[in-house]
Amino acid sequence: MYNKKTTQELIKLTEKLKSELPIDSPESQIANLKKVINFHDWKYYVKDDGVITDYDYDMLFARLKKLEKENPDLLTDDSPTQRVAYGLTKEFPEVQHIAPMLSLDNSYNAEDLMSFDESIKKLVDSDSVEYTVEPKFDGAGISLVYENDQLLRAATRGNGTVGDEITNNAKVIRSIPLSGDLSKYNINKIEVRGEVLIRKDVFKSIQENQKKEKELWQKDKEAGKKGIGGEPKIFANARNTASGGLRMQDNGEVAKRGLEAFVYYVGYAVDENDNSLLLKSIKSHHQTLEILADVGFKAPMQEITICKDIDAVIKACEKWEADRENYPYEIDGMVVKVNDLQQQEICGSTAHHPKWAIAYKFKAKTATTKLLDIEFQVGRTGAITPVAKLEPVHLAGVTVSSISVHNEEYISEKDIHIGDTVEIERSGDVIPQIVRVIKDARNGSEQKVLFPKNCPDCDNVLVKLETEAVWRCENTNCPSQMVERLIHFVSRDAMDIEGIGKKQVKRFYELGYLKTFPDMYNFPFDTVLEILDDAELKKENNLEGYGTKSIENLNAGIEKSKGQPISRILYALGIRHVGKGTAKVLTENIANLMDLKDKSIEELVAIDDVGPIVAQSVFDFFQDPQNLEMLNMLQAGGLNFENIIIQKENKSNVLAEETFVFTGTLEQFTRNEAKAMVEENGGKVLSSVSKKLKFLVAGASAGSKLKKAQELGVTVLSEEEFLNLIQERS
Ligand code: IVH
Repeated sequence: MYNKKTTQELIKLTEKLKSELPIDSPESQIANLKKVINFHDWKYYVKDDGVITDYDYDMLFARLKKLEKENPDLLTDDSPTQRVAYGLTKEFPEVQHIAPMLSLDNSYNAEDLMSFDESIKKLVDSDSVEYTVEPKFDGAGISLVYENDQLLRAATRGNGTVGDEITNNAKVIRSIPLSGDLSKYNINKIEVRGEVLIRKDVFKSIQENQKKEKELWQKDKEAGKKGIGGEPKIFANARNTASGGLRMQDNGEVAKRGLEAFVYYVGYAVDENDNSLLLKSIKSHHQTLEILADVGFKAPMQEITICKDIDAVIKACEKWEADRENYPYEIDGMVVKVNDLQQQEICGSTAHHPKWAIAYKFKAKTATTKLLDIEFQVGRTGAITPVAKLEPVHLAGVTVSSISVHNEEYISEKDIHIGDTVEIERSGDVIPQIVRVIKDARNGSEQKVLFPKNCPDCDNVLVKLETEAVWRCENTNCPSQMVERLIHFVSRDAMDIEGIGKKQVKRFYELGYLKTFPDMYNFPFDTVLEILDDAELKKENNLEGYGTKSIENLNAGIEKSKGQPISRILYALGIRHVGKGTAKVLTENIANLMDLKDKSIEELVAIDDVGPIVAQSVFDFFQDPQNLEMLNMLQAGGLNFENIIIQKENKSNVLAEETFVFTGTLEQFTRNEAKAMVEENGGKVLSSVSKKLKFLVAGASAGSKLKKAQELGVTVLSEEEFLNLIQERS
């Protein structure tokens, strides 16, 4: 569609429009602005390879909008400004599809594919059939009708015969062209089919924002705030978010979901005399997609494989299945299609599916298994969490043997009984969940889940507040809580003590070496080293697997943690309602951590983002003499309670114009700290990888972003290299 030459011309034109005073006529300015904006939309949304800054794009867009407002007679339907111009859609009228939108038949293994191949060979009466293999996108089906090069209407799949017209919503999806040079191929009217999706990382960030909103809402609710509206929703999965998005009334809201559309099929294509072009001038499925891509659609050209025989098909399917987690979109299988359209025609269709195509479904991300028991675990704040113990089952690459069932309400809502057969689901790297109980599998021996009245660890009577969903053990000396508090204290976002994890904390607690936070800074290294020196003692104390090296690492980790800023110390203390953000806010304007003990509730509430519940909790903590004693001991152990005030203004400008994306598991700093470092030095953190990105900083087990950066030739840095970069330039 845009070859090298036109691409260069349009980039030049962009530069011209950016810098030049508008001396051309409004007609020519509008025409040029539409041209370049359409080009940049295509480059960014279809090719994933943006070449303009958001700022410049917005400027050009604003200029076009202004010119169209001043010259309403020059406004056309296919102007990029018209994508979000329609506002509310009251209802979605039903429309009949030109040709029914069929489903696909399924296959699950190589054998199924071979018998599919056999049947095709019989149908077309040939020994060699060429196939294509492409992803089976797990989103919401869409039909797009274009006439005279313009998008006429968009519709959902509906029941396959009749769908809902959702044209205004489709228009905000920038990978769906509003117009395209179809006449070039003699196409007068065409129905294009595809799938609307959300990239996994975009979905994740939407979900994270929703979680934050929900947390804030919950805080407001606990604080008794009025007018906070209903409980914010958290989307369950990318597919529902996409299909729900297509049917929203406000297309401004649809735009916020970041939907994209891949196209993979043409249901109908005619020239101006209504003659079908599908067999006349378009010969193969691959060519169909090439034409669509050329006209500006997002067709899976990078993904599609042409296969000479079924063995190649099987290979392609298996390769994709093994690598599916690295693909940026959710896919639930591959679609195998006979490439030659004439052969497709010979195969024909049933009422349900075309006979020339088959879906190869990936191994399920859901599984069924038996729920053996419910265990009750005590968290660091005393919250009791029921955890279902399952008969171990393989699910999307991991073995699952226990799964949280959250709280009493959840158990009764899902009607979970001990002994039930349950269906569990895991998508991407999301924690497995119970989808449903299979009630038909019950035999009467299943038992109701009885919630304990006493703490399973210390036997204290449990309590439940009206405003909360969980039961709690209020004994702060409950051993389980103490261990959990210590685990939190050493964790990455808190004191970040390397060389000690859950298992070690538990072990040292049981041995009596680590009972309180200050014990961490008074750790009996000599005693532990003596034990490790003696094989017998080592075994007796259950310290097998430990070596002197682990103890050295722990020592170094403890020393390093002494330099943590006071916001982290405050967070590490595990005061109820004091999360990472709140700890930062609380310590922003104090000189010493102990200043908090002199603050009244009123003074605490006066701090931005601190509500009465947080204030009360902090106040109570700092009034408790035992806690003050513990803080004194931490200070005596070497922690720094002075506030190292970080200047908020830019420290330097050494990263000006530089852009960064962080991916994978970061060991040396959190994502927020990384972002702060970049911004303090004048740089910018972006959320996705494109050609314009300067640096990708990759931590351990980086996935698709790293792959994409390597493909695009973006410089990849390790965490050390990133830190060095700042240091070298400073
Ligand atoms: S071809 C007439 N190709 O899967 C055949 N469908 O379960 C048209 N789907 O209804 C379908 N990716 O919504 C085709 N690459 C792909 C696809 C795909 C996803 C959807 C489509 C279809 C459903 C069947």
